[in-house]
This record gives sequence, C-alpha cells and structure tokens, in this order.
Amino acid sequence: MKALILAGGKGTRLRPLTYAMAKQLVPVANKPILYYAMDSLYQAGIRDFGVIISPETGKDVEESLQVWLKPDTRITYILQIEPAGLAHAVKIARHYLGDDDFIMYLGDNLINADLGSHIADFKKAGYHASILLKQVSNPSSFGVAELDACGQVRQLVEKPKVPKSDLALVGVYLFTHHIFEAIANIQPSWRGELEITDAIQRMIEDGRMVHSRVHEGWWLDTGKKDDLLAANTVVLGEYAQARIQGEVDAASSLRGAVQVGAGSVLKNVQVSGPAMIGENCYLENTQIGPYTSLGNGCRLIDCRVENSVLLEECVIESVPGKIEQSLLGKGCRIIKSPLSQQSHKYLLADHSEIEVL
Ligand code: G1P
Repeated sequence: MKALILAGGKGTRLRPLTYAMAKQLVPVANKPILYYAMDSLYQAGIRDFGVIISPETGKDVEESLQVWLKPDTRITYILQIEPAGLAHAVKIARHYLGDDDFIMYLGDNLINADLGSHIADFKKAGYHASILLKQVSNPSSFGVAELDACGQVRQLVEKPKVPKSDLALVGVYLFTHHIFEAIANIQPSWRGELEITDAIQRMIEDGRMVHSRVHEGWWLDTGKKDDLLAANTVVLGEYAQARIQGEVDAASSLRGAVQVGAGSVLKNVQVSGPAMIGENCYLENTQIGPYTSLGNGCRLIDCRVENSVLLEECVIESVPGKIEQSLLGKGCRIIKSPLSQQSHKYLLADHSEIEVL
C-alpha cells in the first residue's frame, strides 16, 4: 500500500501566514501539521509516500520532509502546477501510483485514527474504495455522505447547500486503481476543480464497492485561524508532557503539562499547561496561559499570552493586557509604542488582522 499526501494548494484561508509558508507546514503544538499525517501513516506500516506539492511552496515542503525522513522510507514528489482539485492530484500521480492500492491523506487534516486497522479491513474485505466520515455541525463546508438504512453510502455531494446528513468526508481515503477510471468520467465542479467526492460518487454509480466508516476520534480541520487554534488546544491537551530541558529560575512556576525546550531561559515566569515552549526562548516577568505554543527563539518580556500559537523568533515586550487567541507568524514583534498613550503603531502585511479594544 502506498500513500498519497496532498501538500499543495494555496492556503488562502490561512493568510497572511500562507504568503510565507505552506499551510501544511504551520505548526500545531510545535510540530508541522504535515508531520502528524506522515507519522500516523508510518505507524500504520506505510513506507512508500507520494507527496503532491505546488510550485509556490514545494521546495519548503521537500526541505521539511527531508528532516522528517526515516531510513526505511521513500518519498516521491509530484508537482501540481495549478490547484485543480483533489481528483486532479490523484490523476497526475498515476505514474507514481500505478495499479497499487493507496491511502490518500489531505496534508492539512489532523486526525487521531488507527489507520492500521482501517487499512487491514479494506484489504480483507476487498472494497474498491473506503471513506471516513465524521458528524459535524456545518456539513455545507465539506463533502457530505448520505447513507441508507443499512449504513451503505447512497450518495456523496461536495459542499451541498442543503445537506442530506451531518456526515462529512474526512480527508483520508482508501482507493484501488478503479478510482482513475471514475476520475476520467467526471467534469470540473462549479469551483472549477475535479472533486474527489464526485469521483467516489461516480464509483458508486458504476456499482463499485464503496465502504464507509464513521470516525469516533477527533478530526481537526486546520484551514482557518480559529480552527488552527482549536487544533492546537486539542493536540496540546493530548500530547504535551511535563519536560524541562531549559533553565527555570526559583521565582518561576510551572503547572501541569509544560514543556520547555533546550537552551530556553525562564526568569520569573508563570506557565499553566498544557503549553509548549520551544528551544532557545527567553522569557522574563511573563505569564503563559494554557494552550499556548511558542516556537524556537521567542523572546517574551513583561506580558501575558494565552491560547495562542507563536511561530519562531517572535518578540513581545512590555505589552499591557493579555494577548489571547492569537496566531503570530515567524519573527513578529509586538512591543510597547513609544508614541502617546492613545496611539497605536502598525506594520502589517497583506490580510493581517488586528482586534483592538
Ligand atoms: C476537501 C474535500 C471535502 C472534504 C474536506 C476535508 O475540501 O473536497 O470533501 O470534506 O477536504 O478536509 P476542501 O478543503 O478542498 O474545501
């Protein structure tokens, strides 16, 4: 079984972060989202990976996966020039996939699923395709499955205005090579993309065995800022452990699952876990609330930060009030303004957002 991981696309919903980086490389609990997919597939026994990349961020994805790479794995990169849809990505990966069965995994999805058992069931039963479904409160934002009384998939519709159920298609799919024939027989959707949902629907119409399984664990979409913060909260809650590798002085206190990376220095800092502080950070007179991740090399002095994700090398100094539910890209600086008390001073890139009192 091969894996096809989708790490292309433009990530427009996560701007401005995605002007500078691939959405799949944004960290959750200080680990790129894409690594969670790779780790979970590796644990399920996959060693042969095809990764779909885009011209804009492909090089960064390759560099990042070089760091992840294990001695017994092989990664083949497949360039998708235009984000022409998930089914288009499968189509252009044909030379890599051949006639092998494969698991397709959307690189911006975070799922705690036992893929090993899912794959084993698929092989044993001889299905032509298998999908994972999850109950959601906003089905119109996803591909939606309608099941019959016996739980068989009756129909799949991509982002229906009037959904027939609340079961969304999770971004993990198992396929046999029959998917290629289905893709050859579909047309682009209203958004101009070849939809994988339409291709699977086509398989159903062609009488192929399409199996579905309702996923019981969590599934996190990381498409937008608030989704990403929610994902950080869930993942920190699950994976953060109390582990101190840096220096913490006697005036500081750490409560709960708090990780402090090597080379970091904390002076009079109160941290409530779960929280992760990367390597080589400097924190002084500061309170870090729960559900916060700081990337490597951050510098925080006289401030309070809670429920936030800061990428590498951010600086926050002498900021009154609390910073919360915030997402800061690499090297962002929030410092006390030298102007009068009523003034604020900004340098913002395109599509930046600020919420003030
Ligand atoms: C894609 C699929 C959709 C699926 C979703 C899961 O949506 O088209 O069927 O439910 O991924 O994340 P997109 O992210 O392209 O809007």
